[in-house]
Amino acid sequence: MARYPDSLIDLIRERIDLLELVGRRVALKKQGTAWLGLCPFHNEKTPSFSVRPDKGYKCFGCGAGGDAFKFLMQTKGIGFAEAVEELAAMSGVPLPRDAHAEDPEMVRRAEHRRQILALLAEVREFYQKSLSAPGGQRARHYLTQRGLKPETVQQEKLGYAPAGWNALLDRFGGGEAAVELLEAAGLVTRKAAGERPYDRFRDRIVFPIHDLKGHCVGFGGRLMGPGEPKYLNSPETDVFQKGKLLYGLETAREAIRKEGSVLVVEGYMDRLSLVDQGVLPVVATLGTAMTPDHLRLLWQQTRKIHFCFDGDAAGEKAAWKALEMFFDGLESDHHAAFLFLPPGEDPDQVVRREGAAGFARRISGGIAPIDFLIRRLGEGLNGTEPEGRAALMHRAKPLLAKVKDPLLRELYLQTLGQRLQIPHAFAPVSPRVDDPAPYVAPRPTRRSQPLRPVVAGRTLAAAQRNHEQALLALILRHPRLMREREEELSRLPLENAQLSALLTELIERARASDDPIGHGTTEWFSSPELTRCAQEVLAAEEVSPELVDQEFAGCLISVHVKSLRRERMQLMRRIDLEGDGDHALTIRCRALKLEEQRVLGQKIIRDEGR
Ligand code: UTP
Ligand code: MN
Repeated sequence: MARYPDSLIDLIRERIDLLELVGRRVALKKQGTAWLGLCPFHNEKTPSFSVRPDKGYKCFGCGAGGDAFKFLMQTKGIGFAEAVEELAAMSGVPLPRDAHAEDPEMVRRAEHRRQILALLAEVREFYQKSLSAPGGQRARHYLTQRGLKPETVQQEKLGYAPAGWNALLDRFGGGEAAVELLEAAGLVTRKAAGERPYDRFRDRIVFPIHDLKGHCVGFGGRLMGPGEPKYLNSPETDVFQKGKLLYGLETAREAIRKEGSVLVVEGYMDRLSLVDQGVLPVVATLGTAMTPDHLRLLWQQTRKIHFCFDGDAAGEKAAWKALEMFFDGLESDHHAAFLFLPPGEDPDQVVRREGAAGFARRISGGIAPIDFLIRRLGEGLNGTEPEGRAALMHRAKPLLAKVKDPLLRELYLQTLGQRLQIPHAFAPVSPRVDDPAPYVAPRPTRRSQPLRPVVAGRTLAAAQRNHEQALLALILRHPRLMREREEELSRLPLENAQLSALLTELIERARASDDPIGHGTTEWFSSPELTRCAQEVLAAEEVSPELVDQEFAGCLISVHVKSLRRERMQLMRRIDLEGDGDHALTIRCRALKLEEQRVLGQKIIRDEGR
């Protein structure tokens, strides 16, 4: 592999603002001479990731570390040469054109690729011109009749591939090398090897497809009248891979960043109509199902994906595939919603009828992954019977097991348990007495009626809750909890000083007398502050009686985990400020991390043992 001279690398490294580079991906806060943030290379809730603008970055949690080049390579999954190119461009350091001179094969391939891209750019322009030329009259009419504004056609660089077999060959195919290039770009094809080449796109509206650098890498083409196939795509080439490209992603990037989300649809015209109507940002797959690569691409741009599908059986199936992919390897703080349109309708039709505002309302009404999961897996199950609910839980577990973030995985299982009113799903302290009947039996219809989740009590994601407060509210309301877990509670450090004082007092009282703590009694505390604190806690938290035990177990573990994290965080700050010559602090950090995983793991094991 060719190497750039070290002096050049050093120069680029010196000119790059590491803070800015890292800051694009990680929110950083100054801490002494370093900047701290959540490590982008592993899951964490408290920052172990430290950046020193003059030295590099280092994660005390997972050990990742390096300089600007390494950071780009690790975050983008690119090679060193690509990282050098990108950072050189960013820092304004010119790269010698023959940097790869030692590797002729690489030079040849890079050059070939450059030629293909240059040709595609020219062809795109040719198609655009053909659209405005006299021969493009029918195509222009077609686009108008599809409702697209001229500005959208212009902005999206739509074009027209002329009728006939040789439009491109005539224009760009002078000589054998030129024909080879047209073929490599996927623009001409042959019935069989050795036979006469002819244009792939003929008498079609063409949609240029761009990579993330803005290069045109291929086209989609639509017939204007009846015929087969209605849509045609560029074939797989060196620069065009359907499974790794999304129509409109490059254009939508800025809007994605601004909105913090993206909408994914299935058709070229669907995306164009939405864009035309001002529904932004939106991208489309290229006539293939979503792939993990698509998802990775999208996660690089945003933390929230709205998937849009047709409400028929095919749409449901495609959505399910997307859901499976969504769970697989899922990290925390990655969100999705599933939007189903009326059966047989696509986004194009819906947005034309309901306008951007109407469509936006539909987007915000998309259903959460866990609800889609319940709806789909619950099909054909009888939710009034324990057997049906248990079966659903069993069906869901393998899917949720693929979620990468352990806390998130646990919260999904917890939420699922709550929705299904399966209290044991979350490690209860003692057996429950009453048995709720949460479901209406599915009516026998042609399509089996899906289960409907029943929202009981608090079903907020646990991450959004104040677990310390919830814990105390539960103890105040249900004194037996204190008696059952007194030992554990007395060792539990709370972050909130007032809640901590309240807990201490409750423990002392419980030890001092056999009297149960008065149910909701608040005149009972040693100071007016504590009394007020207890009242506030009781007012803020309410839990359905049947969820008490599982909520309590959940809060206990969450508070425990958080206290471990706080301690670890303090240690990391110390390491950062004072260094850790004999690694004692680092070792303690690791031990805390392990303990944290053990506590979280306990939950999962208990849950799965049920
Ligand atoms: P649809 O057949 O649902 O068409 O194809 P559409 O999006 O509603 O398009 P209009 O409204 O009739 O113009 C959806 C997507 O499937 C791929 C294309 O990517 C298309 O956008 N497709 C469809 C093909 O690749 N080939 C085809 O023959 C048809
Ligand atoms: Mn359509």
